[in-house]
Amino acid sequence: MDRYRYWHNDAIVADLDTRRHPFSVAIENFQHDFNIGSVVRTANAFNAEGVHVIGRRRWNRRGAMVTDRYLHVHHHDDIADFVTWAGRDDLPVLGIDNLPGAVPLETFALPARCVLLLGQEGPGLSPAAHEHCQAVLSIAQFGSTRSINAGAAAAIAMHAWIRRHVFDQESGPPQP
Ligand SMILES: C[S@@+](CC[C@H](N)C(=O)[O-])C[C@H]1O[C@@H](n2cnc3c(N)ncnc32)[C@H](O)[C@@H]1O
Repeated sequence: MDRYRYWHNDAIVADLDTRRHPFSVAIENFQHDFNIGSVVRTANAFNAEGVHVIGRRRWNRRGAMVTDRYLHVHHHDDIADFVTWAGRDDLPVLGIDNLPGAVPLETFALPARCVLLLGQEGPGLSPAAHEHCQAVLSIAQFGSTRSINAGAAAAIAMHAWIRRHVFDQESGPPQP
């Protein structure tokens, strides 16, 4: 954004830290998912508290367009490590996938503090991840494809949080 032109990275991060939203996003990375860069970029756009990469430490940064410099990206070796982190802070883990038993994201009362957990292209949420989700939320589809891209699903889920918690129905959008 223009207002950050000529600022040092640390100063931008410190400024964003003063108004991070209390949701985080997590994605499994056991097959080097190419969507992670796009998830990071969207998480920066919506000023998420952080992004959690579960599995491989290395992830494809191309789609992040250097936005990873301005938010907190954490790594967890496996689901157990991630769940321990979420549990320490009593953070609800909400899976985002269209697995059997999933409930519609569109009508779900997303809590203010939560972590939205996405699966990978191909396998989707792993059984280990699924087991630890308080709920799994599906995004309604109307065409013929089984699923949408994980980066797109992450953006929709994050924006559902923004609509619910930033754009209050009665007061309208916050003034800049
Ligand atoms: C390409 S999908 C693969 C798995 C998917 N369950 C399938 O049957 O094709 C990769 C990830 O994108 C997200 N995703 C894709 N479509 C979704 C939908 N309709 N609702 C919720 N999440 C979705 C989920 O996080 C999923 O793990």
